[in-house]
Amino acid sequence: MPAKIIDGKKIAEQIREEIAHEVSLLKKRSGIVPGLAAILIGDNEASGIYVRNKEIACKKAGMVAEQYLLPAASTEREVLLLIEKLNHNPGIHGILVQLPLPKQIDERKILEAVLPEKDIDGFHPFNMGKLLAGCPTVLPCTPFGVIRILEAIDCKIEGKEAVVVGRSNIVGKPVSLLLMQRNATVTVCHTRTANLAEKVGRADILIAAAGRPEMVKGDWIKKGAVVIDVGINRLADGRLVGDVEFGEAQKRAGWITPVPGGVGPMTIAMLLWNTLQSAKRTLPA
Ligand code: GUN
Repeated sequence: MPAKIIDGKKIAEQIREEIAHEVSLLKKRSGIVPGLAAILIGDNEASGIYVRNKEIACKKAGMVAEQYLLPAASTEREVLLLIEKLNHNPGIHGILVQLPLPKQIDERKILEAVLPEKDIDGFHPFNMGKLLAGCPTVLPCTPFGVIRILEAIDCKIEGKEAVVVGRSNIVGKPVSLLLMQRNATVTVCHTRTANLAEKVGRADILIAAAGRPEMVKGDWIKKGAVVIDVGINRLADGRLVGDVEFGEAQKRAGWITPVPGGVGPMTIAMLLWNTLQSAKRTLPA
């Protein structure tokens, strides 16, 4: 039987409806409207689309969304000054700096400049440390979305073999921690892992987040596995594909996320969730 396809768009829509409802309650009860500021530096086409989609989703949920589009040649100082201004703006509860950044800008310096309370991506080292210690305030949006997908399909995590392909700070590392905290046995693989096919073949839960088009071959996948594909890669012929060879994988997996329409919409839903929680934390106790 072919895998069931996970409709990330539908799961995300339900979450976004709940968020919109909570936003309206918060507004009514406290006058607070959650506000997000998104900073985009340069003209990376994919980043531009992501930021625009995040802004639209925020507004649809009744939140304030501000976009700051800076030229590719911006200096680190200019970006730091903008972040400083937004850190002090009481109407902004979440600050997002879209990655990747142009070469002349030090990513670490920028992420550390965002106040941890307004870091709705969970990329500040303080928030990364809290996640590592098992007491997170905010979860990075994509890993959080992956966990919400697993919950939505009632996937038991405890005791399972989970394999994560990719070790980025944005997805691979944090999603590995979240799975470990839920008592999975986690193997983290990457581009230099030996015998990748054999390791992937052990996975009851496979998270592909290497950023390489169709690098995970369908016939590596264990029968019945849950396959979550975080990759979004544009091929030369214009097609959008994930990190997993979808057609073949679908023949073996139990559940699988499509690209697009799988993890992508969940990342945005969790960003809204994090912004709402950040706004709620400003309420007096
Ligand atoms: N670039 C790729 N994914 C993300 C994300 O989740 N947040 C930000 N800020 N940049 C990204």
